[in-house]
Amino acid sequence: MPYECISGRSQVLLCNCKKLNQDLPNSFYPNQYDNLSNWKAHYETTGPEIWKDTEGTVTHFAAGVGTGGSMSGTAKYLKEQSEKVVSVGIDTYGSVFKKYKETGEFDENEVYPYLTEGIGEDILPKNVNFSVIDHFIKVTDKDAAVMTRRLAKEEGLFVGWSCGSAVHGALEYAKENLKKGDVMVILLPDHGTRYLGKVYNDDWMRNHGFLEDKAYGTARDIVSSRDVGYQLVVVKKTDKIKDAIALMNDKSVSQIPVMEDGQVIGSITDNKLLLKIIENPALKDATVDQVMEDSMHFVALDSTLDVLSSMVEREKAVLVRDELHRVHIITKHDILAAITK
Ligand SMILES: Cc1ncc(COP(=O)(O)O)c(C=O)c1O
Repeated sequence: MPYECISGRSQVLLCNCKKLNQDLPNSFYPNQYDNLSNWKAHYETTGPEIWKDTEGTVTHFAAGVGTGGSMSGTAKYLKEQSEKVVSVGIDTYGSVFKKYKETGEFDENEVYPYLTEGIGEDILPKNVNFSVIDHFIKVTDKDAAVMTRRLAKEEGLFVGWSCGSAVHGALEYAKENLKKGDVMVILLPDHGTRYLGKVYNDDWMRNHGFLEDKAYGTARDIVSSRDVGYQLVVVKKTDKIKDAIALMNDKSVSQIPVMEDGQVIGSITDNKLLLKIIENPALKDATVDQVMEDSMHFVALDSTLDVLSSMVEREKAVLVRDELHRVHIITKHDILAAITK
């Protein structure tokens, strides 16, 4: 039976579950996102278990954040035992958590499809208690998948994909921040059997560009081949449309991000502009906000070119931040040029 819902992955899921619960007599809706028994269970069990097993020596706790229950409950308990405990939430590219923690802004531009299962969200579940999560680290699908396989091969831990995310992200954090004597506990919540056809399958890994033997490069290769003086062509929403068109011609670009206060808030593309101006020629004297479209999506710097090409095929160009936090645009032409180099 079809259950019509609004857009967004978790939103769709929540909608479907709610509706099923309403329609089916005697049904129970656990609602792991917003049912606060979720974090409380971890406060009462996972936290005390870690405290007891480390004999109170734990200094850092890292875990993937999906509903937020395991991180929030465990971190709250551990922080109550020792103020020194630092918690590190592991997030995905394509999820809103990290930016929300760092800026307080729920940025829909951060949301795009990703593959890692169980962590990252396009909503803010009630079980995510941001006040007990000190830092968020984002991990790409590829880094998580590669680490999941390493855990099986090198540590004998047959765990799930989000466990690879948790370990990769925790190690990234540890490299910069841990000192001798610190004790970091990483929560691995999932076993590997569900991923036999995915991260544990070489063909699947190869098809997704996750195995090193694939000759494709990454967004990083495109970005680092650009001049040191690279500057993204941008417009403001208050700019005149005719000036934006002149800029497109001058710079020979077909799409431009719209920026405000250092943030990308939308985009304009020549295709849509043309259609709108043909419909209403007076628009050329209006301002960019009259024709602004959704922003391009941000991708991770180590997204492989085959993954990028499937994104730009479906949508517009993508954006990426380099190591100096400058925003770059990557178009179909950039990917083609990099692949055929
Ligand atoms: C495989 C997997 N990893 C990680 C998580 C994240 O845990 P939490 O929902 O407690 O944030 C989940 C959540 O369901 C999951 O299914």
